[in-house]
Amino acid sequence: MKIPDLSHRARKTPPSPIRRLAGLANEAAGRGLKVHRLNIGQPDVPSPREFLDGVASYHEKVVAYEASQGSQHLLESWSRSINADYGIGIAPEQMLITVGASEALIFAFMVCCDPGDEILIFDPTYANYIGFSAISGVRLVPLPCSLEENFALPTREQIEPYISPYTRAVLLCNPNNPTGTVATDDELRMLIELVRERDLFLIVDETYREFVYDGLKPRCIFELAPQDPRIIVVDSLSKRFSLCGARIGCMMTWHREVRQAAFHIAQARLAAPSIDQIAAAEMLDRIAPDYLKAAHDEYRSRRDVAVAALSRIPGVRSYAPQGGFYVLAQLPVDDAESFASFMLTEFDHQGATTFVAPAAGFYMRPNVGKSTIRIAFVLNRDDTEEAIRVLGEGIKAYQERN
Ligand SMILES: Cc1ncc(COP(=O)(O)O)c(C=O)c1O
Repeated sequence: MKIPDLSHRARKTPPSPIRRLAGLANEAAGRGLKVHRLNIGQPDVPSPREFLDGVASYHEKVVAYEASQGSQHLLESWSRSINADYGIGIAPEQMLITVGASEALIFAFMVCCDPGDEILIFDPTYANYIGFSAISGVRLVPLPCSLEENFALPTREQIEPYISPYTRAVLLCNPNNPTGTVATDDELRMLIELVRERDLFLIVDETYREFVYDGLKPRCIFELAPQDPRIIVVDSLSKRFSLCGARIGCMMTWHREVRQAAFHIAQARLAAPSIDQIAAAEMLDRIAPDYLKAAHDEYRSRRDVAVAALSRIPGVRSYAPQGGFYVLAQLPVDDAESFASFMLTEFDHQGATTFVAPAAGFYMRPNVGKSTIRIAFVLNRDDTEEAIRVLGEGIKAYQERN
């Protein structure tokens, strides 16, 4: 029987490179192997008590829709919290609560671009941007960054040739997933100037904002460009408060039309989850600053352990990321995807193996990053160290086999 073809959009939306190997990992665990999961950014840091108490205290008879813009309580709590930390003076009306940063990014793409328009990204970056671009019909144009230069951002002179008549925005993930690159203030100022002069939007994904190390200060871009209407900040509670499953993010902008348009899209999807918003608002009102400090210090120490453990594996090339909770490592293997599958299907070191994410899916450029993996700092220090030791054994076994 002939069935209709699917849309271009459906065919162009790739599977998540991070989730692709998950089935093999489950099978390995089913065979009784201990699988060290360094593949996905699902933190193991406990979610705040204040959030869980907020969920437990929900006693309404009906779980009703929230307002499309988000719960007023959460909008007020979130704006109060970011203003206290960064002094940007954002009002609840300038924010829109979304289903995670993911939905805020889709809204931003749809509001800034028509199908066929272009957004410049720093390559490699968060793989799901590719999915968001396929959904919205936007073309992502990669600005190359390289491991040899610790993934530093390109200069303005290097960026300008990529701007075309279709370019509508620059998208910066700061700190970046998967490289951990943190933009300097000078780089942020350069981007702010660039978008002003070239009449573009600047979308900044600040999902990992607080996770910066080595004495760097967390930055919200609005500190450097107060009330700049060209800037759209995307934010999330997922990583900062270990609340990935709560699905709470937001979009912030001083641009009235952008906000209105995003709000109309938000009305079409009705609302973000009600109970999570209630609990998130309670949490932001009551949480002690030590929660975030403890999470930050934990990720920094895991980074130190991971970087040191990687440096002990012969032939592995890596660096110390200054932010986020991932690091890329180039392995002495031809193809990181087949290596990662090997680790889950054929390898076993004293009853254990390590699950890593092949990094090619984080690169927009074809055939780049083929030998590279991403490691997430989602296991405690001892487990991270052990997982990377097992990874080293796996590399040896893979090389001997080939
Ligand atoms: C850079 C970046 N942006 C956005 C997201 C999605 O976040 P959320 O859970 O808020 O949708 C992630 C999740 O890993 C991410 O790494």
